[in-house]
Amino acid sequence: MAAAGSAVGLGNIWKFPYIAGENGGGAFLIVYLLCVLLFGMPLIMTEFLIGKQSGKSAFGAFRELNGNNRWQWLSWLCMLTSLLIMGFYFVVTGWCFNYLTEAFTNVFQGMDMHELTAHFKQVSSNTPRMLFFGFLPVFLTAGVLWFDVNKGIERLSKILMPLLLVMMFLMAGRVLMLDNSNIGMQFFFQADFSKITPTVIMEAMGQCFFSLSIGMGALITYGAYMPKTQNVTRTSVEVILLDTMVALLAGVIIFPAVFAFGFDPAEGPQLVFVVLPAIFEQMNFAWLSSVLFFALLCIAALTSTISLMEVAVAFLCEATEHTKHPLDRRKSVMVTSIIVMALIALCVCWDSVFGAFDEITACVLMPLGAMGMALFVGWCLPKDGQKGVFHADKGIKRWLRKLFIFFLRFVVPIAILVVFLNSLGVL
Ligand code: TRP
Repeated sequence: MAAAGSAVGLGNIWKFPYIAGENGGGAFLIVYLLCVLLFGMPLIMTEFLIGKQSGKSAFGAFRELNGNNRWQWLSWLCMLTSLLIMGFYFVVTGWCFNYLTEAFTNVFQGMDMHELTAHFKQVSSNTPRMLFFGFLPVFLTAGVLWFDVNKGIERLSKILMPLLLVMMFLMAGRVLMLDNSNIGMQFFFQADFSKITPTVIMEAMGQCFFSLSIGMGALITYGAYMPKTQNVTRTSVEVILLDTMVALLAGVIIFPAVFAFGFDPAEGPQLVFVVLPAIFEQMNFAWLSSVLFFALLCIAALTSTISLMEVAVAFLCEATEHTKHPLDRRKSVMVTSIIVMALIALCVCWDSVFGAFDEITACVLMPLGAMGMALFVGWCLPKDGQKGVFHADKGIKRWLRKLFIFFLRFVVPIAILVVFLNSLGVL
């Protein structure tokens, strides 16, 4: 449940629709689903395996399993990725909190699409306001890590996440009754294969890593806390199914609405923040549904930021452990929060920094991290360690284990390399 909470977040509801909209809808969806099968499944299992075998977070795991420092660069890569993701992720979480307060005071009532677009521009360029709403979730996340109430959050999200799903089903139902909604469904589900370009493939791969929280060591930590008897294969399948379902549902809500309201699907990062309020205007109990939805969205974002910040906090604790100035957990939370707030300020002040962090993490750093981890488990982990991932899976067939290792050794690294070179125009 915790891993699912980390996976399901703004990546599904904010990023997926806007990236899919910019990259041709149905064409993107096909490539995305292929990426989930090709990369998602083996890589989620890889991270769980590294954590479960080592019992450590991303900082200590590679050394523990390998006995030397040769793979330590991967931990640093994870740390860097987590900081950059947090830089822009908290800004978007801030937009959600802002929209929650505005839904509460009924700001969107009667606004049309132009007004909603203008409203987003006005809000997001209001620097002091955005700094306030960007820092707010940092304090909340830091608070959870500071007081170590992860467990409570997890229990809470067991009730709230299904509620988010129910809300989304209701919204999809309403949207599909709008005139012209079928055009949106066609856009989202009908693949025009000529639209599959190297960029589309790159973006789909990046989105797959981002949405499933892989390539950054977040799931290593979750693996470390996993009971030895937990079935890794099943857990991975469940996380993937849930995450993909939420992303698809977000597409089924956003695209029919986009076309019904005569809007442009390639609108960019503001897409869902313009379309969602317009959808609530069409619903029964408009006020209640918008407040409830944005509240649930904020909580979904927070369960993701907790997993993001945990990587950096654990890294700082363990990296400074044997130095002259060791940082305990709370000091690490403080140091991380300060660095993150500086990064948020950069993203709020410069749109281009926001875009760069988003792009670099998804299309360069996470694929690199994922490739490193696949090579590490495929080539450097002793056989016993590789088998460890299946310890709890009693009925698992030998050929399935062989397939897993084959994927990590050859398929995943080569596929990532090909996508890289392809998008650079080398191939
Ligand atoms: N997967 C989350 C989302 O879709 C974001 C996220 C949380 C993440 N933890 C992560 C992304 C670790 C990459 C790595 O919103």
